[in-house]
Amino acid sequence: MKKVVVNAYGEPEEVVECVEVEDVGVPDGDEVVLHVLAFPINPADISFCRGRYRLKPPLPATPGAECVGRITAVGSFVSSVKVGDLVINLDRENWAQKRRVKSNRVVVLPAGIDPCQAAMLRINPPTARLLLEDFVELKEGDWVIQNAANSSVGQLAIKLARSRGIRTINVVRSEDAFPTLYKLGADVCLIDNGNLVAQVHDVLRGADLRLGIDAVAGSATARLASCLSPGATLCIYGSMSGDAITIAPSELVYRNIHMRGFILGRHLDVLSEDRIRSLYKEIIEDLDRFDFKIPIEQVYPIENIGRAIAHAQRSRHAGKILVAPNGSI
Ligand SMILES: NC(=O)c1ccc[n+]([C@@H]2O[C@H](COP(=O)([O-])OP(=O)(O)OC[C@H]3O[C@@H](n4cnc5c(N)ncnc54)[C@H](OP(=O)(O)O)[C@@H]3O)[C@@H](O)[C@H]2O)c1
Repeated sequence: MKKVVVNAYGEPEEVVECVEVEDVGVPDGDEVVLHVLAFPINPADISFCRGRYRLKPPLPATPGAECVGRITAVGSFVSSVKVGDLVINLDRENWAQKRRVKSNRVVVLPAGIDPCQAAMLRINPPTARLLLEDFVELKEGDWVIQNAANSSVGQLAIKLARSRGIRTINVVRSEDAFPTLYKLGADVCLIDNGNLVAQVHDVLRGADLRLGIDAVAGSATARLASCLSPGATLCIYGSMSGDAITIAPSELVYRNIHMRGFILGRHLDVLSEDRIRSLYKEIIEDLDRFDFKIPIEQVYPIENIGRAIAHAQRSRHAGKILVAPNGSI
């Protein structure tokens, strides 16, 4: 079988290699084997290849925080999953044609779900939801501001916020993103520049802005912080700029802005297995209700992993880059 390995941390498209390895073998009693149908290339996977992610395993290492797969074999004690089930894998190292994992690490999906969408279910949808739920209690009519608003997390946050009557100010790098975001239900779209505070001020007309969601970091953090009301929370969950956060001390000292960090794993770690399963069930129902699909720009074969990862790093692509390791999905 084929899998992707990183032999040295560095430029992602240069360090990933698709290699032939031994098959995963047959499952033990409490294990399952799945054929990976698709995985997305997420910003965290790119950071992983660079050696800049929070996990930096000894090399060679296989990236891949999420995937969707079809169960092809189950161990003799397994009753929760059966051959043919479509599943997402909660374990990592998914850039491979097959995975063998404990049966309690997969979540069975409803038959009929779009496998390409399911490949992107594990990380971004719960991230968008928990960012909106876990830091500030928001009620109908409240405002929230986010940058990288045209990312898939950002688009999901817009949909979710709109369904709850929460109003969104969406900050992006280019006006090209505005039509898509307005169509999703964005209340306001703005460009991230030196005029941001004044523009947000005009939008709010005295209303509070108690939550900011930052996936860019660097100087963007300071701009987002300046838009918030005193005592508001600014949650950093990504660093697309690659730069260290900058923020004026006065934001914390005088204006009492609360800086928080978010990483999905930490939030899932404290949930029971049952709650994790019910969370994904609720998310699938939400996505169905919203009739929302995360845009996909291109699907690559696993042999072209270098080209796929280079594509995923281009700016302003119109959707996620997926890889289908076992051929067409
Ligand atoms: N902490 C967590 O648990 C967690 C979980 C999921 C995701 N995340 C983070 O959430 C962010 C979005 O992830 P995603 O999968 O939704 O992304 P995505 O769909 O691949 O989109 C990437 C986004 O980043 C923007 N971007 C890229 N470089 C940028 C820069 N230098 N300055 C400003 N914006 C930039 C892109 O804007 P353009 O369209 O203008 O290029 C695009 O909106 C990432 O930082 C990711 O690491 C964190």
